[in-house]
Amino acid sequence: MEIFLDTANLDEIERWLDCGVLDGVTTNPSIMLKDGGYDLQRRALEIARLVEPRPVSVEVTANEPDEMVRQARIYAGWAANIVVKIPVINEFGRPCLGVVRQLEREGIRINMTACLSYGQALLGAKAGATYVSIFGGRVSDEGGDAPGLIHGVREWLDLWGSPSKIIVGSMRSTIDVQSSAQAGAHVITVPPSILDRFIDHKYSRDTVRTFNEDAAEALNKMRELEAVAVRVRGSGS
Ligand code: E4P
Repeated sequence: MEIFLDTANLDEIERWLDCGVLDGVTTNPSIMLKDGGYDLQRRALEIARLVEPRPVSVEVTANEPDEMVRQARIYAGWAANIVVKIPVINEFGRPCLGVVRQLEREGIRINMTACLSYGQALLGAKAGATYVSIFGGRVSDEGGDAPGLIHGVREWLDLWGSPSKIIVGSMRSTIDVQSSAQAGAHVITVPPSILDRFIDHKYSRDTVRTFNEDAAEALNKMRELEAVAVRVRGSGS
């Protein structure tokens, strides 16, 4: 399973790259805004250079299919590792499957985003999307069974030999990361704050602290014994 960072924060990307656990990055217009990536091209390129050859997803910002295609071609020209995010439907409910199909045929890798249902993910895979992004947290927000959905889509992809990969995003807590991984996500995309909580544990910290204290005490005892030995040798001569 791959782990992507759901962020446009360059420091966080660098930090997690150094940990050796990062396989890519996803962004969206809200993440870009939150992380100060107001100049989309500049920030997308900065991320792409940092993580290459790993993929970075950058989302189109249009409702019209022709405009989506135009933007996608431009983004894809910025760097070889840019994957273009196309929403499964536009804000008026019009399917964007044709856009996905056309761009994939041109060799542009597509992350079909904002999937909240089995049907959406399945149709995205049929249209040829490299990735279908299931927004697990938003599925749960609506009372849906996110792990069940992920598991069902994964089963279908495997049954029919589809090359599309499931990215699970919209993480709200560490248990979402765990349940998505266990449900069969190919990729989970996680905000840095949740990845921090995924590695941390109070009891691990306490355990390490105890070991460090005991090691320091052992060192003191060894020095005390050495001092006694030196005194004994001195008094004997
Ligand atoms: C992932 O690709 C999405 O951009 C992201 O995870 C959406 O998360 P949200 O539901 O917290 O906005």
